[in-house]
Amino acid sequence: MAISATAGRRVMVTGGAGYIGSHTAKALADSGHSPIVFDDLSAGHAEAVQWGPLVIGDVRDAGAVADAMRAYRIDAVIHFAGLIEVGRSMREPAPFWDINLGGTAGVLQAMRETGAGRIVFSSTAAVYGQPQSLAALTEDLPLRPINPYGDSKLAAERMIAGLCAAHGLTGVALRYFNACGADAEGRIGEAHDPESHLIPLAVEAALGFGPALTLFGDDFPTPDGSCVRDYVHVEDLARAHVLALEHAMGDGAFFALNLGTGTGRSVREVVEAVGRTTGRSVPHSVGPRRAGDPASLVADASRAEAVLGWRAEQSDLDTIVGSAAGWRRAPAFGRRFHHAQSVAA
Ligand SMILES: NC(=O)c1ccc[n+]([C@@H]2O[C@H](COP(=O)([O-])OP(=O)(O)OC[C@H]3O[C@@H](n4cnc5c(N)ncnc54)[C@H](O)[C@@H]3O)[C@@H](O)[C@H]2O)c1
Repeated sequence: MAISATAGRRVMVTGGAGYIGSHTAKALADSGHSPIVFDDLSAGHAEAVQWGPLVIGDVRDAGAVADAMRAYRIDAVIHFAGLIEVGRSMREPAPFWDINLGGTAGVLQAMRETGAGRIVFSSTAAVYGQPQSLAALTEDLPLRPINPYGDSKLAAERMIAGLCAAHGLTGVALRYFNACGADAEGRIGEAHDPESHLIPLAVEAALGFGPALTLFGDDFPTPDGSCVRDYVHVEDLARAHVLALEHAMGDGAFFALNLGTGTGRSVREVVEAVGRTTGRSVPHSVGPRRAGDPASLVADASRAEAVLGWRAEQSDLDTIVGSAAGWRRAPAFGRRFHHAQSVAA
């Protein structure tokens, strides 16, 4: 059954109560599709589910996923549900395999049982591991993750590719670089707990809601010595998922695409942008490098443009930081002003 671009699809969004999933549910609804969120609320927020029903369940439970797919006559899945903290994956790898790989197995089994044909998967730049140069990364580079988080996401990609080929499903893995920013209308935003991402932590430090920021390392081989990353607005990411869902593909096809801007920004540039945008400087200090932090992770996203016609449109740093600061000043849910976390990238 080849799938062509159609509006009005009934899409299960696993992890749709979380950050990127909730923005994607909104983008799906705005494009005429019907998102049905499946989330165990272990890290997500019921208040973020505003564009369709919420089914509370665990993606490792293939029977529960299949029941929800039948109840809502699901024909495609966007699979976000999983654990995301790289540092925790080094200390506690088992749940990353269990949830990120086992959860993907549960979703695929339920798809085969119910006939849902398309899966769009949240993958990550972490599949590339420690790049050997500062050049933008293409999808053809060797895949050599350096932590259990990246390992589990790469294994899930491979599981999806194998099951697509064997069972005539279709799959797209989207490898995000650094997701950031918030809904322009302020209804949803990034509400991780604990937060480990640079932009919300820098904004909290500037606004006095959180501790001073620690920049991990200022002796990287980058122009200003701090780490360089590729920051892409969550609304740009959400739009890419809709395009991947609608993309015409033959039975059994699977491919992976990078999603980024192609332009790297250093930690110091982000700190300056937060100061400029909020009108408050970011209190910060410089600490030692963290183990395994690459100097630079920047996407070559030209394949996503060629295949999906996607490119980042809202991902200039001031737009990103402005929306993130707007959300942090008045979050609709998940308020948290007290966690002593700080990171460099
Ligand atoms: N945030 C980023 O910068 C980034 C970058 C690259 C890739 N990703 C990937 O994108 C996806 C979403 O990231 P996010 O930042 O929105 O994370 P998030 O923590 O906000 O969302 C994940 C959601 O999955 C749910 N979940 C976790 N385990 C579950 C389970 N067993 N069953 C059902 N639901 C479960 C959580 O409750 C949460 O709502 C993840 O798969 C992550 O690996 C994120």
